Amino acid sequence: MYKRETGGARPMAIAGRFVRERERLIGMTEAERAWRKQWMQDQILSPNEPRHVPEMYKFRFNIFRRAYKAPLNYLENMLEPVIGKRAHTLRFFTGKIFLLYLAGIGVLYNLKYNQNDWTRLGGFRILENRPAVLPGDSSFPKLSTKSNPSEYGSREGKLEESPSNVNDENVAQEELFNGVPISKLTKTQMKKYKRMLQWQSVKKLKRAKEKLKTRSKKIEAKMLNIDIGPSRKQLKNAKMANSSCKIGVVIDLSFDELMINKDMGKVIKQILRVYTENRRASAPMQLHLTSFIGRCKEEMAKHNGHENWDMHFHESSYLDVFPKDKLVYLSSESDNVITELEQEKVYIIGGLVDHNSHKGVCHQKAVNEGIAHGQLPIGEYFHSVSRKVFTINQVFEILLRVSEGKTFKEAFEMILPKRINMQPTLDNSEDDSNNE
Ligand SMILES: C[S@@+](CC[C@H](N)C(=O)[O-])C[C@H]1O[C@@H](n2cnc3c(N)ncnc32)[C@H](O)[C@@H]1O
Repeated sequence: MYKRETGGARPMAIAGRFVRERERLIGMTEAERAWRKQWMQDQILSPNEPRHVPEMYKFRFNIFRRAYKAPLNYLENMLEPVIGKRAHTLRFFTGKIFLLYLAGIGVLYNLKYNQNDWTRLGGFRILENRPAVLPGDSSFPKLSTKSNPSEYGSREGKLEESPSNVNDENVAQEELFNGVPISKLTKTQMKKYKRMLQWQSVKKLKRAKEKLKTRSKKIEAKMLNIDIGPSRKQLKNAKMANSSCKIGVVIDLSFDELMINKDMGKVIKQILRVYTENRRASAPMQLHLTSFIGRCKEEMAKHNGHENWDMHFHESSYLDVFPKDKLVYLSSESDNVITELEQEKVYIIGGLVDHNSHKGVCHQKAVNEGIAHGQLPIGEYFHSVSRKVFTINQVFEILLRVSEGKTFKEAFEMILPKRINMQPTLDNSEDDSNNE
């Protein structure tokens, strides 16, 4: 089997050997002369050439090329009778110019509406050279505005340097996070910013869930007849001014210099608990913050709206607010034991978290200032206590419960955590039960 379609025959020129003049001069037979004549006649094209064969046209040009050629063919056919062969040249350039026009429109559109920015990978991006700043120029030497390594890789850094963007309104109105424009955040700040955004998006949902939970708890408690504390309406009326309890409690905030920031934060947290407890009480105590200046005031400022709390804030010392003979400074170091609360007195709690590293500082202060002092009667009821120094809010809550009519023993048991190992003093526990 031959591999070629011609069955092994090699192609040859159909003009035959007489295409060469020398061959013809050698001499030709009659048959050869007739063949040559026929060949010569075959070279003359028919007047209706070139022949248009639709199938052939389809085969050569795909649908897009046919669509592109159709109007041009039409144009050429129209013009040819008028301008002759130039119609073909005109047709050629018309097509190419039209294609160039389309490409130009495409580029302009993409430049205007589809530019590349930091949100996407695609799209045109125009990089401009920075204008040269030479010695003698008014802006020389123009130092880089970048100060962070991350800014050198950031698209925003480059944009910012471009003079056309310096006055850009968007840059001027850029959103800030902790006082820093978003585009200038460091990696860590950006992480915090993203976390904040994420928190904001879930916060509402969380709050709604919490509300639903509290509401269903309230309904459940109502059905089971369980006391869930004062209602909003009751809370609104339970203000210090309306309270039947006139016992004063001062939290003395004059210990700024004895505390590190962390402990100062703890003091403020404990005051928040004190305030919450007092607000929830049916007869709130008369609550004051004295020496409310400096760092403790700054720390408190983090809690929005505290200025509106139902609590008295004084920048001055309690000595300037109350008569000396009404004051009783509470201190675990005092030798005096308080057995009952007096309506006319003002009890001072030291606003100090020191992990007892400044032992007896409040007691010493009271002695120096010549005011009364006293300790809570924990030793009277419990003969062995692992801790005698309590937190600010624990002391306040004990006072509050006693002001509400509870005994000190009951108040200690209610407020102090079970881990403070309290062994009742036999005599007093008996006394107490007798009282009850
Ligand atoms: C954490 S203590 C501060 C301890 C501090 N080292 C001192 O010298 O008072 C906070 C405050 O709670 C009050 N306090 C704590 N335990 C007390 C107790 N057993 N009796 C009376 N007041 C107490 C005091 O007014 C004290 O200043």
